[in-house]
Amino acid sequence: MGFAMAASVTLSGLTRRFAGAPRPAIEGLDLVVAAGETVVLVGPSGCGKSTTLRLVAGLDRPDSGTIAIGDRDVSRVPPQDRDVAMVFQGYALYPHLRVRDILAFPLKMRGVARAERRNRVAATAELLAITELLDRRPSELSGGEQQRVAMGRAIVRRPEVFLFDEPLSNLDAALRSVLRVEVGKLLSTLEATALYVTHDQTEAMTLGHRVAVLRAGRLEQIDTPRRIYEAPASTFVASFFGTPPMNLLDAARHGEKVRVGGVTVASPPTDSGRLVCGIRPEHLGLVGDDHRGSALTGTVASIELHGAESHVTVAVPGGGVRLKVAGFAPPSPGDRVRLAFPPEALHWFDATSERRL
Ligand SMILES: Nc1ncnc2c1ncn2[C@@H]1O[C@H](COP(=O)(O)OP(=O)(O)OP(=O)(O)O)[C@@H](O)[C@H]1O
Ligand SMILES: [Mg+2]
Repeated sequence: MGFAMAASVTLSGLTRRFAGAPRPAIEGLDLVVAAGETVVLVGPSGCGKSTTLRLVAGLDRPDSGTIAIGDRDVSRVPPQDRDVAMVFQGYALYPHLRVRDILAFPLKMRGVARAERRNRVAATAELLAITELLDRRPSELSGGEQQRVAMGRAIVRRPEVFLFDEPLSNLDAALRSVLRVEVGKLLSTLEATALYVTHDQTEAMTLGHRVAVLRAGRLEQIDTPRRIYEAPASTFVASFFGTPPMNLLDAARHGEKVRVGGVTVASPPTDSGRLVCGIRPEHLGLVGDDHRGSALTGTVASIELHGAESHVTVAVPGGGVRLKVAGFAPPSPGDRVRLAFPPEALHWFDATSERRL
């Protein structure tokens, strides 16, 4: 059931300002999702993710800017003529219908003949492993099964573009991780074009060919998951990804050198005097007093045990940093520790613009 028809989605200068709002919900958004690509939209609550999807679906109109699907400008096209399917968070299924009829409904609405409907429902059910559920009603399904039926309802009519708005967020953690893998497989099987909204960073990293980070209605960075993680464009992006996220410390430049966390390191090439230094928790390692080379010195403030690893918070001059230590044998609160890091693992940001240097 491939999608020969997958089409790109192009947002140009998209702006939506709700009446009485202090700032636009989204502003000047430029974004291209290539045919067959999954772009994951992430960002904190209220940054404009759902607003963006609703505009693409045609459920809302932009104040300015355009939306194209393939090379067709759909800005003024009603939702039912856009060939877009949307899966909402906690999507409500018709309680009185059997799964078979829920899946067939969107096809019936479009005048697909009975035999063809039956074939498509069967193929979709097989793809989602819900064949044995076809004669049940939603009240007889688990949350995860209902979610799969909701996906099926979107998939069954083979739209050009899929829109997902936090489709897994109302599920428990275990089920979410199972379905996350299934959704990933599904998207690559279908070779569909998809815009997928989440504020779960694991979903973003694992499902997106590219990740778009929104901040207060504006695009902060769009890049591959790897680039987002290894070269975040700003302190905002840096602190959004990673568990724990990147450590950020204020730093001051003195000529060729920078003072940060009580140590002196080589300055990045910049005229800026006030800097922010970023370091990922996995790049900090406990070392003994005999360590040669740069190391932060501080006092252990707190410990979180996660099983495979422990997260240790250490107070250092000018702030706190977190690092990961394997297993259940971290140092204890109050211990003095030294933390080494490879100099090339440091990220530098301008303190004023918050942008990567
Ligand atoms: N119909 C509306 N009328 C007025 N303001 C709205 C409307 N819909 C959304 N907003 C506002 O627009 C901004 C963006 O909302 P949106 O729903 O797009 O956020 P979101 O990124 O999806 O957040 P969440 O992660 O909480 O779902 C918010 O400030 C919200 O209050
Ligand atoms: Mg939302």
